[in-house]
Amino acid sequence: MKKIKIFADANLVIGDIDKHLFGSFLEHLGRAVYEGIYEPGHPAADKDGFRTDVIALIRELGVPIVRYPGGNFLSGYNWRDGVGPREKRPVRLDLAWFSTESNEFGTDEFMKWCRIAGVEPMMAVNMGTGTISDAAQLVEYCNHPGGTTISEMRRANGADAPYNVRYWCIGNEMDGPWQIGHLSADEYGKKALEAAKVMRWTNGEMDGRAGANGKLKLIVSGSSNHEMPTFPEWDRVVLEHTYREADLLSMHRYYMYSAARKRPLEDFLGSADDMAEYIGTLKATIEYVRAKERSKKRVGISFDEWNIWTVTAPRTEPLWKRAPHLLEDVYTFQDALVFAGLMNTLLNNCDAVRAACLAQLVNVIAPIMTKKGGGVVRQTSFYPFRTIAGNASGDTVRAISDSDTFENMFGSARYINEAVTHDAKKREVCVSLCNYAQESREVSLELRSFGDLRAAEYLEMTSPDLFAVNTFDAPETVVPHARELPEVKNGSRAALKLPAMSWSFLKFVY
Ligand code: AHR
Repeated sequence: MKKIKIFADANLVIGDIDKHLFGSFLEHLGRAVYEGIYEPGHPAADKDGFRTDVIALIRELGVPIVRYPGGNFLSGYNWRDGVGPREKRPVRLDLAWFSTESNEFGTDEFMKWCRIAGVEPMMAVNMGTGTISDAAQLVEYCNHPGGTTISEMRRANGADAPYNVRYWCIGNEMDGPWQIGHLSADEYGKKALEAAKVMRWTNGEMDGRAGANGKLKLIVSGSSNHEMPTFPEWDRVVLEHTYREADLLSMHRYYMYSAARKRPLEDFLGSADDMAEYIGTLKATIEYVRAKERSKKRVGISFDEWNIWTVTAPRTEPLWKRAPHLLEDVYTFQDALVFAGLMNTLLNNCDAVRAACLAQLVNVIAPIMTKKGGGVVRQTSFYPFRTIAGNASGDTVRAISDSDTFENMFGSARYINEAVTHDAKKREVCVSLCNYAQESREVSLELRSFGDLRAAEYLEMTSPDLFAVNTFDAPETVVPHARELPEVKNGSRAALKLPAMSWSFLKFVY
């Protein structure tokens, strides 16, 4: 059996973990909102039509922030359609997803839902069909206390106090020809700069000083993925236009395994290392522009769409249906394994990645699935997310491993993929480990300079069937299991045996 050594030292800190790394995303797409979080008349719905069974799972998942309302939907959306008396709201064609949008659920419902679900809103403004003034007025609607037509509109709609939304995405995937109102990098960069400027002014930010609500965290649209022909030039140009106003640059990436497409499994298993390389290129691009701008500020990364996305079958739902079944991926055990590696990569890059959103949250490429009028199920990916989001806090520390590698379309990737976090306040060290080899591996783990460690938790996810899934009939087919705690020699060394194709999570305390 191959033996792998992994060292981590408390002094080798990569960065502190921003809790916004564990965000998620809700788009007006398919059954994410309607029949997902909002289903009036459902036995578990509250008086506002919010499904409390879904809220309970979202709380369990541990998501601190949720991006809304899109996604591609955003670029054709007029936020005014979704506020005010419901009976007066227009019914529109959603040209992003060829659906009908009833606008029953809009900004005020989302804010109320966020409060009940215990999450922070991350709002997005339309840079496709939307104007700079639409963007600024949405900030006014959300954040201005009152006394203006727009802020009084919010108060008349039932929200006396401002929502004080801090995180704002300026457009979505504007580099993509599929985007409504797609722009060139120059066009988008100029528009995003002006939008950012007036959004800050609307928030009362004058001459760089914070407004009464503090400063907005503004996210400009980076590349939709690193296979775009314009990557990373798009990111450079956009940053050169917006550097002084932007806090974060967005990046998106979905990884896919499709047996039908006959792509080798190694390509999929190497996703975490590919994601790391993608982040590395963006870090370098940001550093380049920072140097050029002679700026002291370091723009961070908002990885605000990431996940595994496999459905490749043609659409069967009719055009213009309300809440059609779209992108309802059912995640396998193997997907969860790759998913855990992606989370490791986010942790290992927490110095630059200051926010991230698992795309998406409910029904649409999501960890939570609902049945109309029925129950909810935790998909396989739910579990690594819940465990890592619930435990990884403090700092990520650098781990050095001698893992062997395999070749794939991205170059080479490691069989053993790890992340080590340290929370000095909680006196906890957490280790997340993926074994992508088809045989078990012995890992000798050495955790130096943390203190006298003892194991407190050891979870493992394995499955005899890589394609096992959780369904409404068999919801707990793929779940993590507790393992016997390993002995920690000299308070720092543990010998582990990782089964073939497995994810393990350990917590040590001192
Ligand atoms: O998350 C699904 C879609 O993927 C989003 O609408 C879009 O931004 C991305 O291409």
